[in-house]
Amino acid sequence: MLCSDLHSALKPILARYEDSQIVVVRDEAVSGLGISELAIRVSEASKSLETVQQIWDFFFAQGLTRRALVIAIGGGVLTDIVGFAAATYKRGIDYLNIPTTLLAMIDASSGGKTGINYHGLKNSIGAFAQPIETLIWPGWLKTLPAKEMLSGFGELIKTGLIDEGLQVTGDRLWDKLLQYDLDRMDIEELTPLIAQGVAVKEQIVAADPHEEGLRKVLNFGHTFGHALEEVTGDGFQVTGAMPHGYAVVYGLIAELYLSVVKLNCPKEPLQQLTQIMLHYYGKPQCKCSERGQLIRLMQQDKKNERAAEINCTLIRSVGDPVINQVITPDEAHEALDYLFSL
Ligand SMILES: NC(=O)c1ccc[n+]([C@@H]2O[C@H](COP(=O)([O-])OP(=O)(O)OC[C@H]3O[C@@H](n4cnc5c(N)ncnc54)[C@H](O)[C@@H]3O)[C@@H](O)[C@H]2O)c1
Repeated sequence: MLCSDLHSALKPILARYEDSQIVVVRDEAVSGLGISELAIRVSEASKSLETVQQIWDFFFAQGLTRRALVIAIGGGVLTDIVGFAAATYKRGIDYLNIPTTLLAMIDASSGGKTGINYHGLKNSIGAFAQPIETLIWPGWLKTLPAKEMLSGFGELIKTGLIDEGLQVTGDRLWDKLLQYDLDRMDIEELTPLIAQGVAVKEQIVAADPHEEGLRKVLNFGHTFGHALEEVTGDGFQVTGAMPHGYAVVYGLIAELYLSVVKLNCPKEPLQQLTQIMLHYYGKPQCKCSERGQLIRLMQQDKKNERAAEINCTLIRSVGDPVINQVITPDEAHEALDYLFSL
C-alpha cells in the first residue's frame, strides 16, 4: 500500500497487537520508529544464516510469542532476511514490510518470497510467507544513492516488459518508463510508476502465490541475472558486487535477445533497453572466461523444473510473456556472446 504518512498508516495496524509484542528490525542506514529494535548492517553477504540467528536471538530476548508483530524497515536484503526469520520463529509470526529502497518497494517487499543465500547460491534457502502489509512511503528514496535507484529501476523495467499495465491506468508502463528522465530521478514523477509496478506484481502474486505457473513471468531476466550476480559476487563475500537490479537489466538483455531469436519478439524493446543499459548501467563487469561457470549456475537455478536444464521466461512482445522456455547451453552461450559484445 502506497502511503503519504507512514505513522498514520501504521497506527490502526499496531493497535491489533500488544505493545510488548511489536518489534522493529531495521537496516542501519535508515531511521527507526522509536519501538524496540535491532539494527543490522546490510549487504548481500549478510543475507546469511548467521544474520537469521541474530534476529531469532533478538526475538527470544524480547520474549516474542506467536502473537507478535515484526516490522522490517530496509531494502530487499533486510526484508528478505527478516521475513524468513519471522516465517520460521515459532513456526511463523506476523511481519510487516516498510521498504526503503526502490527495488524493495517495487519487488522484494511484496509477494511473500523470503530467504537467504546459501553455498553461494542466491535465495537458495527460504520460505513463502506473506507480510501482513507492505507500507510504501516514497520519501525514503530521498537519501538513496543513484546506483541503488538505478538498481530498483531495473525491476521496474522488467515489470514494464512483462505487463502492459493497461488494466491499472490505461497506459502502457513500458512507454512511461521510456519517457522517465533517469538523469533527474524525480521522486514525485516516479511515484505513479511505483504504484503501477506494485499493482502489476500484486495482481500476479494474488493469482499464483506459490509460483506454480503465472508468477514465473516475474522471473523474466532473472535466470541470466542471478547467474551474473552470483559469478560477480564470489559467493557474496566480495563487497561492491553487482547490484541486483543491474544484474536484472543484463539478464533482461540476454533474455530479450533469446526472445527475438526463439519467439520472434520485435527487436525494438531489445534496442531500447540496450541504449538505456549502455547510457546508465554500463557494461556487465564479467570476464568472458566465466561463461562456462555462468551456464553451470543457470543449470543449478532453483527455478528449474528438471536438473541441469536452463529454464527462462521470455516474451513474444511487450506485455506478452511466455514461461518455461527451455534454453540449450549453445543458446545460452549465444545470448551471453550478444550481451558481452555490446
Ligand atoms: N523477495 C523477493 O521477491 C525479492 C525480489 C527482488 C529482489 N529481492 C532481493 O532483494 C535484495 C536487493 O535489495 P535492495 O536492492 O533493496 O538492496 P539492499 O537491501 O542491499 O539495499 C541497498 C543499499 O541501500 C542501503 N539503503 C537502504 N535504504 C536506504 C535509504 N532509504 N537511504 C540510503 N540507503 C539505503 C542499504 O543499507 C544497502 O547498502 C537482493 O538480495 C534480492 O535477492 C527479493
